[in-house]
Amino acid sequence: MDNIKSYVGQHKDRFINELVELLKIPSVSADSAYSQDVINTAEAVKESLEKAGCEKVELCETPGYPIVYGEKIIDPNLPTVLVYGHYDVQPPDPVELWTSPPFEPVIKETELHPEGAIFARGACDDKGQMYMHVKALEYMTQNGNLPCNVKFMIEGEEEVGSPSLSWFVERNQEKLKNDVILISDTGMISNTQPSITTGLRGLSYVEVEVTGPNRDLHSGLYGGAVANPINILAKMIAQLHDENNHITIPGFYDKVEELSREERDEMAKAPFSLEAYKRALDIDDVYGEATYTTNERNSIRPTLDVNGIWGGYTGEGAKTVIASKAYAKISMRLVPDQDWKEITDLFTKHFESIAPKGVKVKVTPHHGGQAYVTPIDSIGYQAAAAAYEESFAVKPIPVRSGGSIPIVALFEKELKSKTIMMGFGLDSDAIHSPNEHFGIFNYLKGIETIPLFYKHFTEMSK
Ligand code: BES
Ligand code: MN
Ligand code: MN
Repeated sequence: MDNIKSYVGQHKDRFINELVELLKIPSVSADSAYSQDVINTAEAVKESLEKAGCEKVELCETPGYPIVYGEKIIDPNLPTVLVYGHYDVQPPDPVELWTSPPFEPVIKETELHPEGAIFARGACDDKGQMYMHVKALEYMTQNGNLPCNVKFMIEGEEEVGSPSLSWFVERNQEKLKNDVILISDTGMISNTQPSITTGLRGLSYVEVEVTGPNRDLHSGLYGGAVANPINILAKMIAQLHDENNHITIPGFYDKVEELSREERDEMAKAPFSLEAYKRALDIDDVYGEATYTTNERNSIRPTLDVNGIWGGYTGEGAKTVIASKAYAKISMRLVPDQDWKEITDLFTKHFESIAPKGVKVKVTPHHGGQAYVTPIDSIGYQAAAAAYEESFAVKPIPVRSGGSIPIVALFEKELKSKTIMMGFGLDSDAIHSPNEHFGIFNYLKGIETIPLFYKHFTEMSK
């Protein structure tokens, strides 16, 4: 513990500078205009792993962006930790809402980060958190105290649903063999109350298109006499929730895991201030499914949300028009034991069935994945808990997150191992939003905590 603390203390400026350099490359996987930058980022990650003492580091070609793989096997009889992370980032838009350019990292203080935070797209999700593992490996190889084997698998398509990673995992089961998967791509409650993410929600993401007349029409000459696709789409979307904010799709809740009163009471013990939550978002009240608390609504309950809606005239001034088409992008966050493909089908059938005569409806599925819950009695969880307790001097709390890392359920299916999610970000770090940032404290604390996980995991595996 003292060792790693002093190593981080000695090298922290370099650790920060290296991350800043990585954040300068705009590895936006969703936008093909950035494809060379995404590839350059993979190269940079590969080099960083080599410098950190990783062996057999390679860029594994896939139908999409390359996967950076590397390993350090010290003894085949010792346990193996597989580290997963992603080097791609979300698009930065709306760029005008950033206080500094998204790919020109700067360090600024915030209320929750008095030691400063690095502002840049990907600072927290996930370049900063992924790079903590590279630096933790550097410490362990430099100081000769890597206690077990390690493999790295860093992908470049997480933010677009990991299409190539499933391809890669299915074809490389032997290479990826491990005893536990370790990910830092989630958050914790606060810098004084660490938590370990024990659950992720699943996801079904679809796009809908409503078509009315075969061309845009004069809204005076035709208005009132033909179905307006935008009006209809709005009506259809409104029907997807009832007055209790339950989702109305038949069969949607059939497989939803209901937590017991005891489990819900246990969850409610995690520190949370509704007032602070509302204040941070400038809202006068929260909103959601009846009979559930805010923390239940955003973790153990499924949701349906419109992520974008468009159609018709949105330019300057007014144009009198009835559009031919209207569109929306809709995400459904799922919980155990909903099946994302089944939910996608249920949605499609229902959405088609509620369309009135006079319009045509098309539903196009994008991507999805299953929810995931990791047990807290596993060696992996216990080792993570011991690591946090040692570095923060506070026992971490298990927390189910509302976010999704769809590939985690697939890891369990294909590689038969549990995933431990040691996240060091805060919900307020604005991932996917303008002004994403990652606290310097969090970054360095992550680097300090990770080697302790290796130590405890190896000891507990004996
Ligand atoms: N790292 C996030 C997921 C996350 C963040 C989980 C915080 C828990 C806490 C990941 O990069 C992400 O954004 N996932 C997407 C899904 C993906 C298929 C685009 C998500 O949750 O929207
Ligand atoms: Mn992420
Ligand atoms: Mn993300």
